[in-house]
Amino acid sequence: MKNRGVYLGLALAAILLVFGVWVLSFFGSTLTIKRVAMDSEAAAKRVAVPAAQALFNPPRPEDAPESIRAEVMLGYKIMTETSKYAGEYVSKDSKLSCSSCHFEGGRSMESFSLVGVGATYPRYRDRNEYTVDLGIRIQGCFDRSMNGTPPPLDGQIIQSLLVYLQWISKDIPIYAKLPWAIPESMDNPHKPDAANGEKVYKDVCARCHGPNGEGTDIAPPVWGDDSYNDGAGMHRVRTLSIFAWRFMPKNAPSLTQEEALDVAGYIHEQPRPKFVPTHPDKIERLIPLTEGK
Ligand code: HEC
Ligand code: HEC
Repeated sequence: MKNRGVYLGLALAAILLVFGVWVLSFFGSTLTIKRVAMDSEAAAKRVAVPAAQALFNPPRPEDAPESIRAEVMLGYKIMTETSKYAGEYVSKDSKLSCSSCHFEGGRSMESFSLVGVGATYPRYRDRNEYTVDLGIRIQGCFDRSMNGTPPPLDGQIIQSLLVYLQWISKDIPIYAKLPWAIPESMDNPHKPDAANGEKVYKDVCARCHGPNGEGTDIAPPVWGDDSYNDGAGMHRVRTLSIFAWRFMPKNAPSLTQEEALDVAGYIHEQPRPKFVPTHPDKIERLIPLTEGK
């Protein structure tokens, strides 16, 4: 009967082993769950996730090769000081620049970044019902976001912007999926409450954007005559809310998604210029492009 002791010992050892593995896997999995939760939170709030970091590496304008450097530098200046370098096409004393929404000439991930656009255009756009190239896309931002008029496609301004945007898209694979691409919406069913939005605006935004949305020395206007017009992407509540939630206040975003939707709803109701089409941005469609959509 001494075998019985051995069997008992073996059984006990087996039970301990199974229990040990279970305990380990339990803690292991809660640890992973916690880490994943933190990652996706970080990813949702600020776009700077490790996966994005690996692709996101825009070179500095001044490091462009000599053959394109002058044009890259000019494109960068047009982005950051638009009324100075493209004054004919926007209001001369406009406080808005491309960089007001695409910070640091589109090189910052903490805004609607333009890194990679050189590799992801031409592209089909529902608004235009046609495939648009990057030049036409930029014209749209002059027309609507800057409330200006579009510079000609073959002129110095668009051409320099194209060279610049191409340069900051260096090493991004053609038609890569960009983790920092401008998303459609926050996917939050909350209905914007403009009355609460007014409160959020006064408490959080007014100190930089002015009590009447008119802008200050610190930040550009968010409504009124000098703001983007009602044809701009930022005029959509879903676009403005995601911008406000992710990036505002600048460098220290603090809103909840609901507050962001509310403040976007409030700003959406304020007066701003009307979009007047100055060029046909619907191109005649010769062959229907419905397949594969
Ligand atoms: C008031 C904010 C604002 C300003 C100013 C602005 N943009 Fe934009 N831009 C947006 C928004 C919002 C989108 C994307 C939403 C959309 O589809 O309309 C966008 C999209 C773009 C895109 C396409 C990006 C992509 O991933 O498809 C390009 C290129 C661009 N802008 C360039 C410019 C240039 C160049 C200027 C200056 C002449 C400019 N933008 C000024 C808000 C702005
Ligand atoms: C600490 C100052 C500060 C605060 C507070 C702030 N912003 Fe901004 N905001 C900026 C600056 C600066 C820019 C332009 C960035 C640049 O030029 O680099 C900007 C840009 C913007 C833009 C795009 C450009 C434009 O003017 O249309 C919008 C929209 C915007 N902010 C909305 C908001 C909202 C909504 C709030 C409140 C939730 C807010 N901001 C709070 C500083 C601020």
